Amino acid sequence: MTTRLLQNNAEDIALAGALLRGGEIVGMPTETVYGLGCDAGNADAVRKVFAAKGRPADNPLIVHIAALADWAPLVREIPPLAEQLAARFWPGPLTVILPRTDRIPAVTAGGLDTVGVRFPAHPVAQAMIRAAGVPVAAPSGNRSGSPSPTTSAHMLADMDGRIPAIVEGGSCLCGVESTVIQLEGADTVRVLRPGFVTPEQLRTVAANVIVDDAVLAQISPDTVVRSPGMKYKHYAPNAAVTLVQGGRAAFLRFMDTHRGAGVYALCFDADVPECEAAGIACVPYGDTDEERAAAFFARLRELDAEGAAHIYVRAPRTDGVGLAVYNRLIRAAGYDIADAGTF
Ligand code: TXA
Ligand code: MG
Repeated sequence: MTTRLLQNNAEDIALAGALLRGGEIVGMPTETVYGLGCDAGNADAVRKVFAAKGRPADNPLIVHIAALADWAPLVREIPPLAEQLAARFWPGPLTVILPRTDRIPAVTAGGLDTVGVRFPAHPVAQAMIRAAGVPVAAPSGNRSGSPSPTTSAHMLADMDGRIPAIVEGGSCLCGVESTVIQLEGADTVRVLRPGFVTPEQLRTVAANVIVDDAVLAQISPDTVVRSPGMKYKHYAPNAAVTLVQGGRAAFLRFMDTHRGAGVYALCFDADVPECEAAGIACVPYGDTDEERAAAFFARLRELDAEGAAHIYVRAPRTDGVGLAVYNRLIRAAGYDIADAGTF
C-alpha cells in the first residue's frame, strides 16, 4: 500500500472523510500530536488501527468529536463537572473518561466500560471529523512504543505502507498528548496522564485535582492500573535514554563523566554554551516547559536519525506543562533516572 500525503484543501479533506467513513484509517493532525484516525463505531476499522500500530488490544482509543453535541450519544451521562471542564478546555488537549454507551464498541474501549472523549482544537482535525460525519477514534500515530509524531514526516516514517493516507497539518503546537482525566464524585478530577492542560489549570474548575501515582512513578507489572497505557513501554527512541535530575552545573559535571561515542546531551537552550565549551555533544530542547513539550519527541527522533547510542536528557520541572514532559521522558528512559545533584 502506498501512503498518500493529503493536503488541507476541500478536495483532500473530503477524500479523508470518505476514507474514514468507508472504514479506512487515516493520519490526522491535532494540536497535541498526529493521530491515527478511524470511525470509532466501526469495530473492523478500529482493529486496523491496532494492527497498524502494533498496539496491545487492551489499550483503549480516545474518541474525537468536532461538536459538543456529539458527546452525549457516546457516554451514559455527562455530570455537571464534566460539562464545566468541557466548557473551559474544549476544543483543546483534554480527554474526559466517562462510562460509554453501545455507540462505542468494546474493541474501541480496549474492553473497558468507559470511553475517553476529546474535542481537538486543530482546524484540520475538526474538518476531517466533520467530513467523516462520525466520531473518530485515534491513538497517537506512532508505532506502539515509539516517540509520538509531531509532524507528518514523523508519522510517515512509522506508518509508510501501512495506511492509505495522512493529512498534512503542520507541526503540532503542544507536542505532548492530551491530559487524560477521570471524575471521582461530584468535584474531584483524577489525572491519569498529564498533558498540556495542567493540574493547576484543572484546579480553576474542579475543587480537587489528584495526580495519579502512576504519573510520576513506575508501576509494578502486577498492579491493576486505571489507564492501561500506563503499564506499557512508551515514547522510546532506539537510543538508550537516561533522565538526569539536577541543576545546570550538576548536569554538566555528570555529562563530563559520561562522554563517549554516540553520547548526546538533550539539554535546555541555556545549557548550550557551557556544554559546547566543555566539548559535550548537545542538542537543546527549549527554554520553557511549553517549548520543551513542543520539541522533545522531535529531538528524540532526530537523535535516532543521527545514530545516537545514548541520550542523557536534562530533566524538566514537574509542575505546569513540565509534568507532562517529565511523565513522557521517564517512560522513554524506561525509568532510568540519574540524580546529578542540586548544584
Ligand atoms: O492528544 C492525544 O490524546 C492524542 C491525539 C491523537 O488526540 N491521542 C493519544 O492517544 O495520545 P493514545 O492512544 O496514544 O493514548 C491514549 C491514552 C492511553 O494511555 C490509554 O490507555 C488512555 O489514554 N485511555 C484511553 N481511553 C481510556 C479509558 N477509557 N480509560 C482509561 N484510560 C484510557
Ligand atoms: Mg500514544
